[in-house]
Amino acid sequence: MKTFFVTTAIDYTNAAPHIGHAYEKVLADVIARYRRMRGGPVFFLTGVDQHGQKVQQSAEKAGVSPAEFVETNTAKFAALYRKLGISFDEWAATTDPRHIRVVQAVLQKLFDEGKIYKMAYAGFYSVRQEQFLTDKERGPDGAFGPEWGEVVELEEENYYFRLAEHRDWLIALLRTRPELISPAFRVNDTLNAAERIAGDLCISRPKERLSWGIELPFDPKYVTYVWFDALINYVSFSGYLEDGAFAGRWPADAQVIGKDILVPAHGIYWPIMLRAMGFSDAEMPRLLVHGWWNSRGEKMSKTVGNVADPDALADRYGVSALRYYLMREIVTGQDADFSEERLGQVYDSELANGVGNLLNRSLNMAQRYREGLLKIGAEIPEVASVRERAAESVAAYAKAMDEHQPRAALEAVAAVVAAGNGLVDATAPFKLAKLKDDAVAQARLDAVLYALAETSRIIAILLGPILPAASETMLAQIQWTPAAGDRLPQAAWGGLPDGHALGAPSAVFPRMETPAA
Ligand code: MSP
Repeated sequence: MKTFFVTTAIDYTNAAPHIGHAYEKVLADVIARYRRMRGGPVFFLTGVDQHGQKVQQSAEKAGVSPAEFVETNTAKFAALYRKLGISFDEWAATTDPRHIRVVQAVLQKLFDEGKIYKMAYAGFYSVRQEQFLTDKERGPDGAFGPEWGEVVELEEENYYFRLAEHRDWLIALLRTRPELISPAFRVNDTLNAAERIAGDLCISRPKERLSWGIELPFDPKYVTYVWFDALINYVSFSGYLEDGAFAGRWPADAQVIGKDILVPAHGIYWPIMLRAMGFSDAEMPRLLVHGWWNSRGEKMSKTVGNVADPDALADRYGVSALRYYLMREIVTGQDADFSEERLGQVYDSELANGVGNLLNRSLNMAQRYREGLLKIGAEIPEVASVRERAAESVAAYAKAMDEHQPRAALEAVAAVVAAGNGLVDATAPFKLAKLKDDAVAQARLDAVLYALAETSRIIAILLGPILPAASETMLAQIQWTPAAGDRLPQAAWGGLPDGHALGAPSAVFPRMETPAA
């Protein structure tokens, strides 16, 4: 069985992590954990992008060396991802000698094969975007827009990667294998960009301008362009040119990236780089392109001061609340609005009052009326409909997770929660409990208590990839241990045996004081 390979973009270390970084890593983590829950082997790679002009400039401003600067910031990313429970198998940090070795080997091979050549070029250069600009980049007024930052005139000899000769190949690839990019509407953006490929890609920077990068193995006066370096992380940290594991991992099944870095980096440069390196069409990775979290409809930016800090949010609200919110309030591929107030509300209504309340009352009533011991009880229509709803929801959840849509999966979970809480309303177990000498009422009560425990167990299983810690706590209280292998079939009704002993409840999702609107 092929290892399921999920990666994320590697985050720039020119600044501290923000909510967009955290979102992407949680999304990839949920995908990785879901695959592990299905019993398959998984390789999950994430990390940091430590080279480039932006890092060099930020380090200069801070008055420290780039190496020191990235070390400090890398520690912040690593600590955040540990806190958020990101279950990566390998950490990609681009100053790692293991990575540098592969990047240099790739550069040397492409150079030896004539796929990289040297040329002089004079033109306008965007310092912010670290690239030469052509007339295509001019706005309607003929000027380069503010997105390019400071633009300077430069003449320089550089090394170029033969990109343009692969244009028709890339167009044909995207037309025949559109599933390589999801959501589907992103395929067209990429095709349009492929059709516009005009020239080759400058992959070097003279050291006098940028020293913080990987040296070209064939010309020590240059370092390589940060994107050429960064993109290679996906293979350098998964065993390429290193060990046998690579063959069972590659191609990536889900390269999770934001919409801003699809074109040109991941949609154009990356497949063409891979092809030039000798990868076949069947070895092209699949991209999963997510949208952006905004703030009141606006882009988050340091200058506006509306950037949400995931570390502070995790401390204030807890990791479960943050992970739940980030998966619940955005459709993969679309943008969403980040609201701290909404984070609190969603937690209280869906986790504290929804899941938490159901688990708590299920265990409480079972303890109070049956000393925690379950009996399967009578076959009653109210339970039959909960059972049907659970089966439908497990199927809907699997479909959603297979499509990388945790929000839709959580909607399926919410339907099970509503069914469980609805069963309490429909059958009033506290009334049944009073009818002690009524055998029919007691058999009904057994059936309801069993159904509530089953519902809680199924919810706990389904929440596993999204809220791993809370899911474990829930299962521990239910006193049910999953068997090895695919866990999803174990979410079928009837997993708790007749006579099963439940544990005592303690709050998994305590209500938080939601700040008043
Ligand atoms: N270093 C490059 C990626 C190299 S991958 C070989 C980079 N870094 S980044 O730090 O700017 O962005 C990292 C990821 O975070 C990107 O996928 C980007 O889309 C994502 N996000 C940055 N801001 C975001 C939001 N506000 N919302 C959601 N994701 C966003 O690009």
